[in-house]
Amino acid sequence: MSTATSMPILTCSLVLLTSSFLINFANGGSFTDDIRISWGNGRGKILDNGKILTLSLDQYSGSGFESTHEYLYGRLDVQIKLVAGNSAGTVTTFYLSSKGPAHDEIDFEFLGNVTGEPYTLHTNVFAQGKGDREQQFHLWFDPTKDFHTYSILWNPQHVIFLVDNIPIRDFKNHESRGVFFPKKQPMRLYSSLWNADDWATQGGLVKTDWAQAPFTAYYRNFNANACVWNGRSSSCSSADKPMGSTPSSSTKGDWYRHELDSYSYRRMRWVQRKYMVYNYCADIKRSPRGRPRECRLR
Ligand SMILES: *[C@@H]1O[C@H](CO)[C@@H](O)[C@H](O)[C@H]1NC(C)=O
Repeated sequence: MSTATSMPILTCSLVLLTSSFLINFANGGSFTDDIRISWGNGRGKILDNGKILTLSLDQYSGSGFESTHEYLYGRLDVQIKLVAGNSAGTVTTFYLSSKGPAHDEIDFEFLGNVTGEPYTLHTNVFAQGKGDREQQFHLWFDPTKDFHTYSILWNPQHVIFLVDNIPIRDFKNHESRGVFFPKKQPMRLYSSLWNADDWATQGGLVKTDWAQAPFTAYYRNFNANACVWNGRSSSCSSADKPMGSTPSSSTKGDWYRHELDSYSYRRMRWVQRKYMVYNYCADIKRSPRGRPRECRLR
C-alpha cells in the first residue's frame, strides 16, 4: 500500500530535481553581476554598462578583478585585448584558484614583450599544491590588435585551455595512475595586470618602460557556464551521480562531458608543434629522474 503511494512522489521529485538542476546550472556572463574589481585603487574599471572591463598598470600599482562566485567545474570564457606596444615586463593573468594550502590552480598568463616581439602565453596546472607543469606558447596572431577569446574548460576528466576555441592544452585526469587532478576544491576566477619585470620578459632581462605607462588591457564578453559553489555544495552536484541526466542536453552543458574529438585533437597538436616554446614534459634538466608521470600517459 505504502509503495503504491510513494511511487508517484518519487517520479515527481526526480523531475523536480532534474529541472532545478538545469536552472541552477549557471550561465552567467556580465561584468556587473559576476565580476568585481578586487584591487588597484581605481585602476580597474567596468565601463559601458558592464560591457567592457579595463585593467591598468602604472609604476605604483597594477589592478585586478575576481568572480563573485566560486566554481566547481565550468567553462569560463573571456575576450581580451592585451597591452599594446612595448608591454615588456607586464603580465596579464586569467586564472582559477582555490584557497588555502594544497591549492588547485589553472593558469593563463600573458607575458608582454618589446614592440614587435611576440607575447608568450604561459599555462600551468596545480593540483593539491603541486604545480611545475608549465607549457608556453607564442600565438598565431597579434593579441594586442583585436579581442581574442581565451577559455578554461574544467570538468571531472579534463582541464582544457582554448584560444579562439582551438584547444592548446589538455591536462587529463590521471588520478587512477597516481597523478593529482583538481577535483574537490572550488575555485574563484581571477584576473590581473601587474609588473613582473624581474622575470617575465626574456627571463627578466628586459625591464618595464614606465614612460609608456599606464598600460591597459581590455576585456569583454565574459561567460561562465559553470557549477556554482554555495559554500556547502555545487549547483551541479547531482551531475556526479549516475542519474543518466547530464547537465542540460543543450549545448550549454556540453562542456561537462567534453573531451577532444579527433578534429580538435589534430588542431591542438598543430598548435603545439608550431607554437609551443616551452614544455615541462620535455625539460630533461628539470626532471632528471624521468619525465613526470602524466607526460608518459596518453
Ligand atoms: C619575447 O621575444 C623574444 C624574441 O623573439 C622571445 O624569445 C620571447 O619568447 C618573447 N616573450 C617573452 C615573454 O620574453
